[in-house]
Amino acid sequence: MNKESFVIEGLAGRKSLKGTVKIAGAKNAALKAMAAAVLFDAPVQLNNIPDTEDVHVMSEILEKLGAQVVWKQNALTIDPTSITSTIIDPKLASVMRASVVLTGPLLARFSKASFPAPGGCVIGARPIDQFIKGYEEMGATISEADCNYTIEMPDIRYQRTEIRIHFDKKTVGGTETLMMAAVLGNGTVTLTNCAMEPEIVNVAEWLNECGANIQGVGTETITIIGTRGKLLSPKQPYVAIPDRIEAGSYLILGALCAENLTIEDCRPDHLALLIDMLTNSGVPIEISNHEASGASIKSADQSGQIINGSLTIKGNTKPNSAFKSFDVITKEYPGFPTDLQAQIVTYLTQVAGKSVVTENIFEGRFKYVSDLQRMGAKLELKDSKEVQIVGPTELLKEHMDSHQHENGDVGPHLNAHDIRAGFAIVMAALVGKGTFTVNNTYLIDRGYEKLEERLTALGANVKRTKTDVQSI
Ligand code: EPZ
Repeated sequence: MNKESFVIEGLAGRKSLKGTVKIAGAKNAALKAMAAAVLFDAPVQLNNIPDTEDVHVMSEILEKLGAQVVWKQNALTIDPTSITSTIIDPKLASVMRASVVLTGPLLARFSKASFPAPGGCVIGARPIDQFIKGYEEMGATISEADCNYTIEMPDIRYQRTEIRIHFDKKTVGGTETLMMAAVLGNGTVTLTNCAMEPEIVNVAEWLNECGANIQGVGTETITIIGTRGKLLSPKQPYVAIPDRIEAGSYLILGALCAENLTIEDCRPDHLALLIDMLTNSGVPIEISNHEASGASIKSADQSGQIINGSLTIKGNTKPNSAFKSFDVITKEYPGFPTDLQAQIVTYLTQVAGKSVVTENIFEGRFKYVSDLQRMGAKLELKDSKEVQIVGPTELLKEHMDSHQHENGDVGPHLNAHDIRAGFAIVMAALVGKGTFTVNNTYLIDRGYEKLEERLTALGANVKRTKTDVQSI
């Protein structure tokens, strides 16, 4: 994990960014499709895969299981036929929570999986009680020794043929993992109170094209009719849907810093709520939906339309202080995504008026607030779930002092606290006045492909440097 920083020249409120940014494939879909490769009887082709750290970590985990993984220009070929191990590498898994999703396909295929208590972003506790509950409902036995879990499923002949699992709370990873654990099973597994994120639909549609029988994905009830041990066949390549969180991040950045910005190859239908909020706030946004081209696996939206489109911010000449404030409550999809919470709070520090943002999905997802406060933003944390904002405020380098950070850091630099808060702090620096240093860029690299290159192409002055020692 290298220690690198971004050095960013603030635009001091000027809306000088311009051009087109092409959205990459969705990290949170691609990682699950990679895990699903374990379910296949031959090498699988995965396309439109983002070149981000998490994808390369998942590739390494698969290789340590024995799979052959080849990366080539945003595409992966994964050959699962050489997998011999069911032990997920604890060191690699500790940096990426999504690795726990691998337990589903490993159990389906090998009836066994071992993994450490999941890692990933430091956004609150990341429990797996819903995974454990689901596995126990499926008849698995679970043993735990110094934070390493080993799960064993009964042989397929002794698996119950009718299983119902109810999630006490919606969990994206839990839904995907248990869905995949059931794909090769002996009978029917019904999951209720499921997460409905588009990334889950994207992976399930591909698995169905390849021999799985998953019904109801994208709704709260998913029924999986197992193939009775028959592995899937790679009849179609997997194609990741555009990353809605990346698209939403750039849309918010564009509202603050660009007169004209086109966000290409995205799915406006996956960002309906954010688009409405920003439009009502006064941001001039044009939506264009056009037919997806090529033989890609497409996921239909609610109206059954198959779309891939672009968002354009055009003639955005009003100052940010002319935009209106609004309240935000994060919810599971199709509610406002928690992964855009830090970005929208940063936006709300720049618009006129009071707003309240409530974070319902993760506790501990406001660590970036102290960085914004040091830049001069008027934010008040009411508790671990709510922040109150009064805008507009200038974000100034001169406001920052050599401040003792929570993690013991000293120095007037900013920190990326998780993938998405990292983008939000970069955005705050771009809106601000002065030259800012943002540390922990490896976190940003986990979820945003080539961020400094893409921002530079839009006209920003962002340089990647080695973090100097005193500000580590
Ligand atoms: C996925 O994480 C995403 N990551 C997250 O994106 C995203 O924030 C999250 O879904 C919510 O949308 C990937 O897909 C790789 P959850 P996941 O299980 O699956 C609690 C990013 O930046 N919970 O839906 O880990 C949990 O603690 C990342 O791209 C339990 O209590 O999220 C949380 O409070 C950050 N018990 C809530 O549910 C469980 O067994 C939602 O978690 C599982 C989860």
